[in-house]
Amino acid sequence: MSAQPLRIGIHDISFATAHQVLDLSEIAEHSGVDVGKFYVGIGQSEMSMPAADEDIVTMGAEAAARILDRHGAEGIRTLLFATESGIDQSKSAGVFVHGLLGMGENCRVVELKQACYSATAALQFALGVVARDPREKVLVIASDVARYALDSSGEPTQGAAAVAFLVTVDPGLVEIEPVTGLHTDDIHDFWRPNHLSTALVDGKYSLAAYLRSLEGAWNEYQSRGGVPFEAIDRFCYHQPFTKMAVKAHDRLNTIVGSPLDRDQRRAQIEASLHINRRTGNSYTASIYAGLLSLLNDDGTGDGAADGADLAGRRIGFFSYGSGSVSEFFTGVVQPGYRALLRADEDAAVLDDRVSIDYARYRALHESVDEVRGEDILTAAETSGPFRFAGITDQMRQYQRRG
Ligand code: HMG
Repeated sequence: MSAQPLRIGIHDISFATAHQVLDLSEIAEHSGVDVGKFYVGIGQSEMSMPAADEDIVTMGAEAAARILDRHGAEGIRTLLFATESGIDQSKSAGVFVHGLLGMGENCRVVELKQACYSATAALQFALGVVARDPREKVLVIASDVARYALDSSGEPTQGAAAVAFLVTVDPGLVEIEPVTGLHTDDIHDFWRPNHLSTALVDGKYSLAAYLRSLEGAWNEYQSRGGVPFEAIDRFCYHQPFTKMAVKAHDRLNTIVGSPLDRDQRRAQIEASLHINRRTGNSYTASIYAGLLSLLNDDGTGDGAADGADLAGRRIGFFSYGSGSVSEFFTGVVQPGYRALLRADEDAAVLDDRVSIDYARYRALHESVDEVRGEDILTAAETSGPFRFAGITDQMRQYQRRG
């Protein structure tokens, strides 16, 4: 008699973002663009903007702390930190988080990079670790600050956020299914050379590359025995801006010859768009912020969708990272998932951000390039639980409050 296959997936998920926010009307006014282009055309209303004492480590630690507060660090022997806005060329940002959270020393910690895709690589690697030894728990942190040049076309799609999730057997939230479809293509649609703090992008080409990659990953997913389109209830896409998910889902419907009308297609993705619309692009974290947004939707509150109970329903995920690597895979939402969510806390994370005006945003943006390797002390500008305190003897210093 063969053993039952292990059920492995996401047991808990948590979210953090920067503590300041810029409404995109500020950028529209500065650049003389109709704000409808941002609110409707690209589907973005706000962007999170890190202060000088915030970065991928402070956001990642804040998201992960919520998970450790609930489950403890016991049994977590792997911490995977996915990012494309790394803060050191050698040391993993995850090691800073491991220290800030006081995790045990018997732990492997590593940083992963492939544009926005690497958190999905981390998820797949985590599933492998747990499959090999079901006693293992893996903490995945995806954290990024998306930066484009001032006055560039990518500027309104900037943003920042972190998502942390715990991968275990018998997951409480989403069991990840084994079939996946992959697509890799050596292109330059979006990239960031080592000497730049802002990304370079060929905007229109990047949209076409994303959609072509979706087709490639979907086709491989099907050829490897994936479920048909009709067996998937909700879809969760990488969201550089939320309209991209709308375009992607329309394209997938065309690829499969689906008869769904515009409203039916929209209903399959709407609930996944709420968080990203307000944080802006968070690169590696974006698709998992989409998952949290989808799970949190109970039909009430700001930005609510249909509030459907998703227990037993299948989600299709499309993870895309420029350059490019992508993956299509699926997961099934678990009974009782709602009891494990922190929807009010997540709403407060967004609502409690401090609004800044255009002048403050521009000064913060420009200040990033003023730091040239000398020691600095950062002012305590935000009230988050973790802060980047500065650089001493070339070493980054972080503090935990309280
Ligand atoms: P653009 O060229 O300035 O904008 O920037 P546009 O002229 O294409 O307009 C955008 C939309 O707004 C259009 O709608 C307009 O019609 C509409 P669409 O035709 O696309 O449906 N519009 C309006 N709507 C309502 N009221 C109005 C109005 N005016 C215009 N008044 C672009 C767009 C996406 C190119 C730019 O934001 C950009 O370069 N973004 C960065 C690149 C990006 O996000 N690419 C996405 C795919 S690549 C990816 O996802 C990976 C990435 O996350 C990085 C990684 O992997 O690490 C970026």
